[in-house]
Amino acid sequence: MAYSLLVSLTLDEVAADAAHCTQCGLARGRTQVVFGMGDPDAHLMFVGEGPGAEEDRQGLPFVGRSGKLLDRLMAQEIGLTRDQCYIANVVKCRPPDNRDPTPDEVAACRPWLERQLALIAPRVIVTLGNFSSKLLLDTKTGITKLRGQSYPMAGTDAVIIPTYHPAAVLRGGALQEAQMRSDLVRARMAIAR
Ligand code: URA
Repeated sequence: MAYSLLVSLTLDEVAADAAHCTQCGLARGRTQVVFGMGDPDAHLMFVGEGPGAEEDRQGLPFVGRSGKLLDRLMAQEIGLTRDQCYIANVVKCRPPDNRDPTPDEVAACRPWLERQLALIAPRVIVTLGNFSSKLLLDTKTGITKLRGQSYPMAGTDAVIIPTYHPAAVLRGGALQEAQMRSDLVRARMAIAR
């Protein structure tokens, strides 16, 4: 067995590996891999869908309009900044024209997310929108039905708290924002448990 398989990598080392990933066709269109950002020892991790144009440009997740909303709601309802949690996406490279990632792309990228989850070992995972919620809860049920409760994450002590994607809240208005706020309060209480 190669030596590298015997030692456990740090999150920075995994990110350095991911920066050269060519496991799917998204590699061809990206400016850079958007691996994730935040505290590698965070108790709280957010998982979105995939980088947009601004994220692709800056190499950081949720730095566009949705990210500004996420930062604001996170501060107001949980009392944390993005540096105090960890933020990642299901796919680490921007799908062209902001289309949805395909099942093959999601499957190809999944090992990176699994490694992030294993190394960070958050107590609470807030899944943002349908993609990450369905993937991590292994369900076809949509976010509107899933949200409003927490779910144990199989094989760990962590809980998954699904909520709307902030882009959907930006489009959806006051009710969706209120529901997302209440999901984040649930996350705050779950972190403190
Ligand atoms: N939407 C996402 O799902 N992730 C980002 O990083 C930005 C927008």
